[in-house]
Amino acid sequence: MNDGDPELHTVPPNRRFDERQPQWRTDFPIDWPQDHYVARRDFTKFLCLTSFAFAVGQFTIAYQNWRRRRRGEPPIVKIADKGQLSIGAALVFHYPDEAEPCLLLRTGEDSFHAYSQKCTHLACAVTPQFDDDRLLCPCHKGYFDMSTGRPLAGPPRRPLPRITLKFRGDQIFAAGIERSTA
Ligand code: FES
Repeated sequence: MNDGDPELHTVPPNRRFDERQPQWRTDFPIDWPQDHYVARRDFTKFLCLTSFAFAVGQFTIAYQNWRRRRRGEPPIVKIADKGQLSIGAALVFHYPDEAEPCLLLRTGEDSFHAYSQKCTHLACAVTPQFDDDRLLCPCHKGYFDMSTGRPLAGPPRRPLPRITLKFRGDQIFAAGIERSTA
C-alpha cells in the first residue's frame, strides 16, 4: 500500500534478499523505517495539539482581558508557574502595566501573596524578609506584614496594595488590585 513512499520501504543494511539475511535479523525483525515514521508522526501530532492548546489558552486570556477592559476592570496577566518559585522566594513582576513593579511571594507549599512593591510612604521599593514574615522598606525603615500587607512599623500608615491572585493548574495570574485605606 505504501509502495510509492520510499520512507516506508524496509531495506536491510546489507541490501541482500530476505532469505540471505542473518538468523538474528529474522528473529528480531525491527522495522526501523516504519518505527521512525510512526515516532515522527506521533511527535508531529503532539506538537500540533500542544500548539493548538497554547493558542486557545492565549486567545481566551486575550478575550477575557478585552472584556474586562471594556468593563473598566484590570486585566488578567500570567505572572509565573508555581514551580518557578521555591518556598521563601520572591519574584518581581509588573502589574497592571510596566510602570508598576510588584512582588510575588511564596510563603508555603500553597501559600502565595502578591503586593505592589512601592512603599505607601514615599514609594521606595520594599523587599521581603521571609525569616521575619515581613517586608522592609529600606528608605525610612518601614515594615509591612507579609501575610496581610499591613504596616507594622516606621512611617507607612497604609497597607501595601494587594494583587489579587488566581490559579489555573500550575499557573499563577494577577487579576486585580485591592487598595485598602485602613
Ligand atoms: S518610603 Fe518607605 S518608609 Fe519611607
